[in-house]
Amino acid sequence: MEGTAARVVYNFPGPPGQGTLRAQPYSAFSSADPSKEVKMESISLVIQNARQLLTLRSDQKCPRTGEHLEDLGIIEDGAVAISGSKIVAVGKTKEVLDQVNITKKTKAIDAKDKVVLPGFVDCHTHPVFANTREDEFEMRIKGKTYQEIAASGGGIKSSVKNLRSKSKEELIQLAIPRLDRMLSYGTTTIEAKSGYGLSLEDEIKMLEVIKELNKIHPIDLIPTFLGAHEIPEEYKNNRKEYIKLIIEKMIPEVAKRKLAIFCDIFCEKGVFDIEESREILMAAKNHGFKLKLHADQLSALGGSKLAAELGAISADHLEFVDDEGIEKMKESGVIGVLLPGACFGLGMREYPPARKMIEKGLPVALATDFNPGSSMTESMPMILSLACLMMRMTPAEAIVASTINSAYAVDKASDVGSTEVGKKADLVIWNVQNYKEIPYHFGVNLVDRVIKDGTVFPSSHGGEGKRVSAVGGSASGGRGK
Ligand code: NIG
Ligand code: FE
Repeated sequence: MEGTAARVVYNFPGPPGQGTLRAQPYSAFSSADPSKEVKMESISLVIQNARQLLTLRSDQKCPRTGEHLEDLGIIEDGAVAISGSKIVAVGKTKEVLDQVNITKKTKAIDAKDKVVLPGFVDCHTHPVFANTREDEFEMRIKGKTYQEIAASGGGIKSSVKNLRSKSKEELIQLAIPRLDRMLSYGTTTIEAKSGYGLSLEDEIKMLEVIKELNKIHPIDLIPTFLGAHEIPEEYKNNRKEYIKLIIEKMIPEVAKRKLAIFCDIFCEKGVFDIEESREILMAAKNHGFKLKLHADQLSALGGSKLAAELGAISADHLEFVDDEGIEKMKESGVIGVLLPGACFGLGMREYPPARKMIEKGLPVALATDFNPGSSMTESMPMILSLACLMMRMTPAEAIVASTINSAYAVDKASDVGSTEVGKKADLVIWNVQNYKEIPYHFGVNLVDRVIKDGTVFPSSHGGEGKRVSAVGGSASGGRGK
């Protein structure tokens, strides 16, 4: 926990009809030896005997590219020692146990025959929304396109209409089970966008919801302002006025209230063109925002090149990126965030050319793009399966892209994304013997336990096959951030 601020007590709701879930019980550390020489601070938790501990450690302080996308830093029979919310030792089990100060209060988790990974960093999500849009899902199955549905008043506009009618509290309550599901699938940090408000008041409301969720939920949320997600209905004949509102009112107000780190835009044919995107993103940059773009998703408009020109931290989607776009992004150090869940959810045949990007040396990251329109999934393991099967990424590349590289895509690589001393104790224990099983065994949850900021959360199935639900239970009863 950071600081000593009063904790917000938050009890995870259990599955329907089962009440609140319990915290995961620890086993006591049996080999505690009080006479052991004190070599470093006492540890609160040790995870030991892991069959494979994937540390993702590296001396390189930049996103992984090319062959380094397969560097997992595997330790067999590995252990991680944790003090409070931080990692204090990583290595072979024997080495770690020799190094640290075990006390009677130290808890131990035996990860024998299990794999341990850093928590996933889901670097592109839209988790705050009101209505679901399953009717559009069916319309697409019957042959309508995403753009046709949007043009007839569905799509983002339908989410805007519904979100505007909800209070902050209602939106918080709707988002909590989604975050619970993310945590249960091994995600410990997310980027979270606004973009369904599209008025000054409703965009601020969304960002305040994200801020509150960050306080009350174990997952860390990194906020992004996405006022340029669509032209709202009331400005449909006056798009210039809406762009003016974004530039002159929304961006300065969001900056003044420090409600977002990043500014994003839907740069797409029929939404915001290249000129408009440049104008909006330049204004955001001048107010201190780091930039992200939804780029080249449905057409080859050139958002990837604009991302390079403006020095964006990432360009996301990239289904239709061309060679020049990849080259320019590489030259400017823009990370390609690939969102195969959106391709799958929209039933697209085109996936981003991940192999070409990797061969050309572009750093790539993976995320869910969780949203009610194009990618209704909170599951990062599902994204890994899609990345492997539909984009031909190897399991190792997919893991690097969804941990350390996605941490870089949200500018948090010094805190999360790998299991290294000094970083947050955000770890996932998997009920598998080889990390390759995670994308291979698709559509199921193989998480045994999630450790977030040093607190242990049970899996969705309790590890004993008893529980089938979203994760719940907090060893600390809540958190203050
Ligand atoms: O990333 N492409 C734009 N935004 C979302 C979809 C939003 C929606 O349909 O509600 C995406 O796919
Ligand atoms: Fe998106």
